[in-house]
Amino acid sequence: MYITDDIIYAGVNDHQVDLFEGQYQVPNGMAYNSYVIKDEKIAVMDTVDGKFTHEWLDNVEKALAGRKPDYLVVQHMEPDHSANIQNFMKAYPEAVIVANAKTFCMVGNFFRSMDLESRTLEVKNGDSLSLGKHVLNFVFAPMVHWPEVMVTYDSTDKVLFSADGFGKFGALDVEEDWDDEARRYYIGIVGKYGAQVQNLLKAASALDIQTICPLHGPVLKENLGHYLEKYHTWSSYGVEDDGVVIAYTSVYGNTKKAAETLAAKLTEKGCPRVVLCDLARMDMSKAVENAFRYGKLVLATTTYNADIFPFMREFIDHLTERGFKKRTVGLMENGSWAPMAAKIMKGMLEGSKDITWLNTTVKITSSLSEDNLKEIDTMAEELCREYIARSDEKANKHDMTALFKIGYGLYVVTSNDGTRDNGLIVNTVSQLTDNPFRVAVNINKANYSHHVIKKTGILNVNCLSVEAPFEVFQNFGFQSGRNVDKFESWETCRSDNGLVFLPKYINAFMSLKVEQYVDLDTHGMFICTVTEARVMSDKETMTYTYYQKNVKPKPETDGKKGFVCKICGYIYEGDTLPDDYICPLCKHGAADFEPIG
Ligand code: FEO
Repeated sequence: MYITDDIIYAGVNDHQVDLFEGQYQVPNGMAYNSYVIKDEKIAVMDTVDGKFTHEWLDNVEKALAGRKPDYLVVQHMEPDHSANIQNFMKAYPEAVIVANAKTFCMVGNFFRSMDLESRTLEVKNGDSLSLGKHVLNFVFAPMVHWPEVMVTYDSTDKVLFSADGFGKFGALDVEEDWDDEARRYYIGIVGKYGAQVQNLLKAASALDIQTICPLHGPVLKENLGHYLEKYHTWSSYGVEDDGVVIAYTSVYGNTKKAAETLAAKLTEKGCPRVVLCDLARMDMSKAVENAFRYGKLVLATTTYNADIFPFMREFIDHLTERGFKKRTVGLMENGSWAPMAAKIMKGMLEGSKDITWLNTTVKITSSLSEDNLKEIDTMAEELCREYIARSDEKANKHDMTALFKIGYGLYVVTSNDGTRDNGLIVNTVSQLTDNPFRVAVNINKANYSHHVIKKTGILNVNCLSVEAPFEVFQNFGFQSGRNVDKFESWETCRSDNGLVFLPKYINAFMSLKVEQYVDLDTHGMFICTVTEARVMSDKETMTYTYYQKNVKPKPETDGKKGFVCKICGYIYEGDTLPDDYICPLCKHGAADFEPIG
């Protein structure tokens, strides 16, 4: 199979494997990919699992079509890719292994009898190797998924050989959706190393990539943005889909009944997706994958031997091992004489960051009571609050407690110029009166939104919660709605005034109608009445301080001289900053810059 005119697939499918890496069920088998790049010199990219020596060597020989390989590039030493290094070097004694120092150390440990004298080429991060027309550029990717891992970019054909990255479970001769098995693979195998994957994505963003050749799963050529976005969500521990996962264990069926009752209540209240996981019976890696996929998780188990039921303990261990965070979690416990499961489960997640605990915990003693049914209803209400608030039919559209979410916060103000939706970040919103409810919003006249709101007289104020990632600020704060469609990649919800409100990352929004305008020279103040107000969640409002401390990436100022933008981190290198300087990223002025150091 040709990937490009010069790159040929030489991998194999494995339908014999019972448990991949000794633990993961792979009902559709596994693919171990390898590639041959043919040029003046020939490079073979990685080997395959030890069970497929001859099949793979046959594939390589066929791809070579009578020629001899010059290099074996070893990107990853886990045996599913490296097991045939020695066999390859026996078949092609003139070939040279291209790898980094850590890889060569592992090669020595795995193949103790192999003599590599004069048959190695050690590369460093950023090195390149010319094959003639093709130039291979090596980028180290430690801990994606072992410390020696490197990926390789062929700048001629714009192909990224991504090692385990972008891989999935499943052989290539079975048709199946990429997302589910790639997610289960990612969360299970690389999930712990989100920060390292983020680093790799950052390095990859500087490259023009047209094809991704991973070591497992299909070669990716179309719609690469989809895969990159999934990897960004997974590696930043973001919520991929709305919904609630109920993970439970049950000895005699009573806890199961509680879990199923909650599932029914959630569905009745409009929860977009409810996933029930019987931890004793289902594939544990699927339950773990779901916990990372959705935003909310309920753990339901019994007290057992003064601890919790073993499958639940194992499940939570899998979560914490992989850095579970940024989720809403609720607890249901069952115990016939001294229930303590809720306390133990909560304790196990103590080290997990940014967990929002539900106010309601369901405490069952043996079987469901009337009080338990009420608790389950309250829990379902809490879990669905933001989903209900988003619903045009079910939302309370006059919940003026929404105004309590106004603080010295950060807001996305949305508007529409008649052709498209727009949004910008502001930090100047305040409540003026409560009878009638009046709110003031200050907007810089230089912003396109000021012009639009002055013309249309309506706006929505979206109160950002602490969940909002930096991308929200980049999207709404660092570019103009006159030039770009800021909602191009967003699913949108609309309030009664027809404007969009953000479906996530907010704890409330208000629809405002402009009653008065006050000219404040550089800014305009819109004094408005409130026409609609919804509360989405109890999450904390994003304040300017929180943004500075926890959301804005730390600018890389080491070794640099000049000024750094306090808003977006842009670095201006130079001895003096012109007074009229405008940050090219976020458009804030010189007053928002501070000297480096
Ligand atoms: Fe596919 Fe980390 O080996």
